[in-house]
Amino acid sequence: MSHRILFVCLGNICRSPAAEGVFRARAPHHSSDSAGTAGWHVGNPPYGPMQEAALARGIALSDLRARQFTAEDFHRFDLIIGMDANNIADIEGLRPEGNDTPVRLLTDFAPHLGADHVPDPYYTRDFDGALDLIEAAVDGLDEHLGG
Ligand code: 4NP
Repeated sequence: MSHRILFVCLGNICRSPAAEGVFRARAPHHSSDSAGTAGWHVGNPPYGPMQEAALARGIALSDLRARQFTAEDFHRFDLIIGMDANNIADIEGLRPEGNDTPVRLLTDFAPHLGADHVPDPYYTRDFDGALDLIEAAVDGLDEHLGG
């Protein structure tokens, strides 16, 4: 079965485009997109250092462009995945009345790692650490969806 998955972070230039890029490479039979809760970077490609770190793992992100998360996304996706608790709170703040689309943390899909969020590499500068978490959790997500 094919699912529609939306990855969400704050700026949509580091974590969520990386998750989208990893997911579409590993699970091309599903459809996916990413968005930011903030609109600062709308129309921009992923942040250069994140593109480079991803490309070193064979994941190209250069075609992606940032957009802002909207309430309509609750109707357009089967599962919405945030990177940290702030993302989840911002997403939930836009939930339309009566909508029951699941919203989860990406790290929920890699419980063995013991992480409760994907630290923002825009601030930590640890792009490889973020990608390690994202790759492990996307594998778990793919399994959760039935492969
Ligand atoms: P992201 O990282 O949420 O993983 O895309 C950020 C990128 C940019 C900013 C914040 C977070 N910013 O403040 O511009």
